[in-house]
Amino acid sequence: MSTLDFHTANDRRSVAIDDAHESLLLTDVLRRADLPLNTRCGQRGLCDGCCVELLSGALISTVTGKTVESGEANEPLRACQHQLVPDGQAEVHVPARSLLAHAPQVVTSFCANVSRAHDPLWQRIDIPIGDIDKSMPFPESLCRVIAKQRDGDLPVRPGRGLDALAEFQEACIHVTLEHCGDHWSVRPAGSQRSDFGVAVDVGTTTVVATLVDLENGEVASTASSLNTQTRLGDNVLTRIQHCRNHKRFVGLLQRAIAKRTLKPLLDEVLRESNLSADQIVCLAVAGNTTMLHLLAGVDPSPMGAVPFTPEFVEHRVFRARQLLLSTPTTTAGISERPEDAAYSAVPADGQMAAFDPAIHFLPSAAAYVGADIIAGVFSTGMAYQMETSLLVDMGTNGEIVLKHDDRLLGCATAAGPAFEGAGLACGVRASRGAISHVRLNDDSKEPDIEIIGGEDPIGLCGTAYVDFMAEARRTGLIRKTGRFLGSPSQRLFRHATHGQSFIVARGSASRPVVVSEADIASLLQAKAAIAAGIVCLLDRAGLSTDDIGTLYLAGGFGFHMDVENVIRCGLLPGFRPDQIRLVGNTSLAGAYLALLDSGVLAEMKRVSRRLEIVELNLEPDFESQYIDQLCLPE
Ligand code: FES
Repeated sequence: MSTLDFHTANDRRSVAIDDAHESLLLTDVLRRADLPLNTRCGQRGLCDGCCVELLSGALISTVTGKTVESGEANEPLRACQHQLVPDGQAEVHVPARSLLAHAPQVVTSFCANVSRAHDPLWQRIDIPIGDIDKSMPFPESLCRVIAKQRDGDLPVRPGRGLDALAEFQEACIHVTLEHCGDHWSVRPAGSQRSDFGVAVDVGTTTVVATLVDLENGEVASTASSLNTQTRLGDNVLTRIQHCRNHKRFVGLLQRAIAKRTLKPLLDEVLRESNLSADQIVCLAVAGNTTMLHLLAGVDPSPMGAVPFTPEFVEHRVFRARQLLLSTPTTTAGISERPEDAAYSAVPADGQMAAFDPAIHFLPSAAAYVGADIIAGVFSTGMAYQMETSLLVDMGTNGEIVLKHDDRLLGCATAAGPAFEGAGLACGVRASRGAISHVRLNDDSKEPDIEIIGGEDPIGLCGTAYVDFMAEARRTGLIRKTGRFLGSPSQRLFRHATHGQSFIVARGSASRPVVVSEADIASLLQAKAAIAAGIVCLLDRAGLSTDDIGTLYLAGGFGFHMDVENVIRCGLLPGFRPDQIRLVGNTSLAGAYLALLDSGVLAEMKRVSRRLEIVELNLEPDFESQYIDQLCLPE
C-alpha cells in the first residue's frame, strides 16, 4: 500500500493506493482520484501538460527506472512518466496549468483538437492573506507566493500599485496576473467583471478576430474582413518587394493592417458583444511571418532574398500602443456613429479608460513557415500523434506540414488568394449573401446553389468555387484545361470585362454572378501550387498518399468544404475522402488555445524547433509537378 498526497490551489487530498494499482502512472492515479491532468500528448512524454512538483517522498521514473527523491528533481516531473514507489509515500503539487479544463472541442469555425488547461495569459487570482510572509516587503512576499503556486514557470514581478494592498484586511488579496513574455506581472485587481481576450488570425488576404471570455473560453463574437494591405499587393512577396524598394511602405503596410483592418475588427466584436474596450485585457495573434513583421512595423525586406532571414520568429509581446491599436482618449476617432457609444465605455468627462493590452505574437519557424502553421500543427494535435499525417492550410500561402515518425517537414507554396475568393470576378468572403455551394444538373447544367443567409447572391466564396470546378468537370461544362466547352447560351457568354463566363446565379437587380475562364485559371494555379507542394513533400519523405493516416484540411472555410469535390478537382491528388478531416481555421485555433492556456506558448516553441523547412523552390521536381497539376483530373 502506498500513499499519495496531492494539492492544487483549491484542493488538498490524500489517497491510499493498494498493491494492485501501485504500478499505475501518476496521471492514472490522479485521474482515478477525479483530478484529470492535461495529458494533451496522450501520455507520450512529448508535452508539458502533466507536469507536477514533487514536494516530499519519492517517485519512480518509468523512463530511467530510477527512484527520484524530492529535492533531487530540479524541474517539474511529468506525471505520465512516473509512478509511486511500492509501499512508499509521495506528496505532489499540481499547478493550474496541468489540470485538464477542456477536452478537444469544436469551437465555432475551428477545431481545438488537443486538450487544454485553464491558465489564461491574463487572469485574476486570490491569495490568502495568511500565506504572506510579513517579515519581508509585501510585494516581494506576494510574488514569492504566486511563483510557488505556479511552480516557478516564469519569474513573477510586482507591477504598479501593489504596496497599496499591504494594509489589506480581508481574508484574500485580489490581484491580476499578466503574462509579459519572460515574466508574470502582478497588479491589484480592479472591479470584478468579465475579462476578455481576442484571438487573431492575420492572413495575407483575410483577417479574423474572435472575442473570448477568459473565464470560461466561450466565444462572444467573431468578425472578419479583407486585409487592407491587399490594396498594396495581393501576396507577401509583392509587399516585401515594396518594402525593399521604399522603406516608407513598412509604415504604410503597418497602418493598413493595424489601423484599417484589425482596429475596425476589434471595434466590431466589442460592438456585437456590447462590451467596452477596456474589457479586452490581452490578444494572441497568429499569422505568417511577413504579416507579423508588418503588424509590428518591422521591415520584412531580409525575407525577400536568400537566405530569407526573418527579423524575429520567437514569441514576442507588444503593447497595443506599439502596434497603433491603442484606443483614443475620447470617442472622437473611434466612430462617428452614435450606436457605437455603447461599447466605448466613456465616462462623463469624455475621457476613456486606456486600452493598451499585451499582444502576444505566437512563435513562427522561418520566413515562409509562420506562426499560423505552427498554431495549426499544435491545435490539430498532429505533433503528438503516432500516425503519419499531413496538414494542408488552403490560405494564400498554402502551407503544408508532414508528420512522419518523429519528423515534421513543412513548406509553403504561393497559392494566391483565389480560394479565399479574392482576385476573382465575383469572389467574396464566406459571409451573408455568398454562394457557398454549387451543384450542376447532369444534362441541362442548370446550377442549384446554396447561399449563406439565404439572401440575394452577391458572389461566390471558396467552397463554391471548388464545387463549381468539380461539377463543371463532372458534367463536361469545362475541359481539363479549365476552358468552357459548348456554344454560347443564356448562361455561357462573353462578358465585357471577364471574358468567357458562366452565369451561376443572378443577384439583386439581375446582376449576373459569374465564373469566368480567368477565374478558373487562377483557381487552377492555386490548386496546382498546393497539389505540387503535397507531392514534393511526400516524395521527400519517401511516402505515398496511402501512408497518410489523416490529412487535416485547414482554412477559413471552416467545416463547409465538400471533400469529394476537393478531390475531384485534383487539389489533394491521390487521397481518399476517408483520409480527410476538415479542421477549419487552425491558425485561429492556436491563438485561441494560447489565450486560455499559457503553457501552449512553450509547446508551440518546441514544435517550431522540430519543424524542418523544405524550400520548394530548391526542390528539383517542384516546377514540373506544378505544371502537371495545372489541369483538372480526367
Ligand atoms: S501527457 Fe505527459 S508529457 Fe504529455
